[in-house]
Amino acid sequence: MEKFLAEAVSLLAGQVPHDKEQLLSELETPPDPELGDFAYPCFRLAKILRSAPAKISAELAGKITPAPYFSRVEAHGPYLNFYCDRRLLTAETLSGIFAGKERYGWKDRGFGRTVVIDFSAPNIAKPFGIGHLRSTVIGQALYRIYQALGFRCIGINHLGDWGTQFGKLIVAFLRWGDAQHLEEKPIEHLYDLYVRFHRAAETDTALEEEARAWFLKLENGDPEARRLWLLFRTLSLEEFKRVYTQLGVQFDYYQGESFFNEMLGDTVRLVEEQGLAKVSEGALIVSLDEDGLPPCLLRKQDGATLYATRDLCAAIYRQRMFNFDRMLYVVGADQALHFQQLFAVLKKMGYQWAEKCVHVPFGLIRFKDGKMSTRQGTLIFLEDVLARASELAAGIIAEKNPKLPDKEKVAGQVGIGAVIFADLGNDRVKDIEFEWEKVLDFSGETAPYIQYAHARTCSILRKAPDWDGSYDAALLTCPEEQQLVSTLARFGQAIERAAETYKPSVIARYLIELAKEFNKFYHQCPVLTADSLRRASRLGLVAATRQVLQNGLSMLGIAAPDEM
Ligand code: ARG
Repeated sequence: MEKFLAEAVSLLAGQVPHDKEQLLSELETPPDPELGDFAYPCFRLAKILRSAPAKISAELAGKITPAPYFSRVEAHGPYLNFYCDRRLLTAETLSGIFAGKERYGWKDRGFGRTVVIDFSAPNIAKPFGIGHLRSTVIGQALYRIYQALGFRCIGINHLGDWGTQFGKLIVAFLRWGDAQHLEEKPIEHLYDLYVRFHRAAETDTALEEEARAWFLKLENGDPEARRLWLLFRTLSLEEFKRVYTQLGVQFDYYQGESFFNEMLGDTVRLVEEQGLAKVSEGALIVSLDEDGLPPCLLRKQDGATLYATRDLCAAIYRQRMFNFDRMLYVVGADQALHFQQLFAVLKKMGYQWAEKCVHVPFGLIRFKDGKMSTRQGTLIFLEDVLARASELAAGIIAEKNPKLPDKEKVAGQVGIGAVIFADLGNDRVKDIEFEWEKVLDFSGETAPYIQYAHARTCSILRKAPDWDGSYDAALLTCPEEQQLVSTLARFGQAIERAAETYKPSVIARYLIELAKEFNKFYHQCPVLTADSLRRASRLGLVAATRQVLQNGLSMLGIAAPDEM
């Protein structure tokens, strides 16, 4: 579709006093295919030319020669509508897909530019919660999306592996801990200890004091404190990595908060030297009054550093290391203030690149099914969620397709895909209501629905082992075929939009639409029983659809089983 878009822009550029970039951003996709493939709204032009938009669109329609890319260019009220030449669009789209294969839709416009993506970042010694799941799947999808646009991507896991909670954990472990239990179920045990600490601290005020002292010891390199911290960290990380393996997630770097310990002194000194820091009630702060924000705390009264100090240090370090063109922090909306403060301090320090830092926030997930919501208190354990998803998927598959080979593997792919899609299928800023029946509904707007469409393409192609890959694009003229081609052609645009808005949901919605269009086609246009030329051409369309469904699913981190 990009070629056609570029051609529409060129045609307009000859007539309209706007540059190509602007024209490109102004072109819209009409809601109804009857209204063409692109529409140029004439409102802005009307203001400049002091004329009626409908009059301008009619004039433009008269002046533009549509061929060869467009069959017609017509005015519809204030819009100028472009209709792609169907034959050319079909031929270009299918050959583009078969040439591009798993890279169809990719571009190189990000070449030579770097995007750092800070995502997942669970806290050591606490369960990998559903909030971190959101960060993980959104971050991973953004990584793949930017990669598809040719950017160099650096994925960083800024683990929460430092901070006062480690003082608490050490105190709790020394009192109530059990080395063997820790070895077997590290996060469960550490979380128990953490909860127990807080309960005990309500009556025993000395505990908090003790914890602070232990954290200071840790910050000062005390060997016993470090030994315990490293043990907690190593065991927790092993557990997190199990989840990452299940989700197919990888990082270029694990650079958690502790990674910056040795550098924090320099960072604080830098802020002080610039005259930006002041002491307030014994703590070191940067006032952000001018920005209308509460002050950013860099050092506590007792000398301990904070989350913000480490983030400041990390940002400066990453700019130096990676010279990024953009840095995305995929972190819950509840940390919006923290990032406003962080970016404001960076700006105050004179770093132009502060503008390249973006907080990509997301809302909450609420579980409707009470069963899932607790094991200990109010936290949801991600491993439980994933296990439950696979179990439920296995039940559905056993019913629908009891003879399926490799049932267990497919159940995992479907179950985990459903959980990922429950997240990515929604606009990330909205809160999500999670219901098992809904996310696993094979006919709803779910991952299984898309996976099922994909499996169907595979099954059709399996039944045509004689097909040699040839097709005639000119024969794909039914409305359902054309609509499917148009949707396939728009994959690249969906990737662009997803990147621009930092919303993998754009790809997710696109895939739902593609699966729907495919199903319509499948019900309307017989493939295997059609006459031989039409059969070959339709098989071409099926193969192209399979490829794009695969590409899109893999971008979201969802598996595409051949059979289910
Ligand atoms: N560990 C933090 C939390 O769970 C998230 C860290 C996000 N990344 C960052 N650079 N602050 O709240």
